[in-house]
Amino acid sequence: MKTFIIAAVSADGYIARDEKHAALWTGKEDKRRFVELTKRAGVVVMGSTTYTTLPRALKERVNIVYSKSKNYEGAEMTQKDPAELLRDLEARGFKEVAICGGSHIYTMFMKAKLVDTLYLTIEPIVFGKGIRLFNEEMVAHLKLVACGQTESGALLLEYSVDHSGTSK
Ligand SMILES: NC(=O)c1ccc[n+]([C@@H]2O[C@H](COP(=O)([O-])OP(=O)(O)OC[C@H]3O[C@@H](n4cnc5c(N)ncnc54)[C@H](OP(=O)(O)O)[C@@H]3O)[C@@H](O)[C@H]2O)c1
Repeated sequence: MKTFIIAAVSADGYIARDEKHAALWTGKEDKRRFVELTKRAGVVVMGSTTYTTLPRALKERVNIVYSKSKNYEGAEMTQKDPAELLRDLEARGFKEVAICGGSHIYTMFMKAKLVDTLYLTIEPIVFGKGIRLFNEEMVAHLKLVACGQTESGALLLEYSVDHSGTSK
């Protein structure tokens, strides 16, 4: 089972200005990559705060939403430990899972050392303050696998997470 994080990040490291800030500020190349990679996986995992910024469930993908209390139409709700969720999805035949945020969910999967790849789009914008990609202390070593530039000046980065070393 391969697990990847996909996120658009401002040049100063934020994924949103606040909890209600939908990810509509990204360029068309980022949106295209998001659709392509998440459809390839067939399943997207996100937190309830992120899900409420969407107009509806992401079509042609199984939408899995973390919440302790809520229920949303079009989504499968979960509170499972990340490793258990991935085991269940693997048993259902998925080979790849897209972790789609926000900060809480990215952090939970990253700290559990279950992420193989990070697809980050660095957009040419700054927010000054807001919600960071990760919201807890961690150390993870990355290897740059691919780096592209879009016409609008965004960087399309692909990193693999190096699980061989120990955290320093
Ligand atoms: N730029 C990007 O690529 C990108 C991508 C995704 C999201 N975002 C932005 O990120 C922001 C939201 O991020 P966020 O960190 O505030 O919220 P989030 O990670 O989307 O969701 C947090 C919520 O998930 C639920 N949750 C978290 N851990 C759980 C667990 N172990 N078990 C059960 N439920 C759990 C809780 O929901 P309940 O309160 O319902 O229990 C919690 O309040 C939004 O502004 C969104 O637009 C940006």
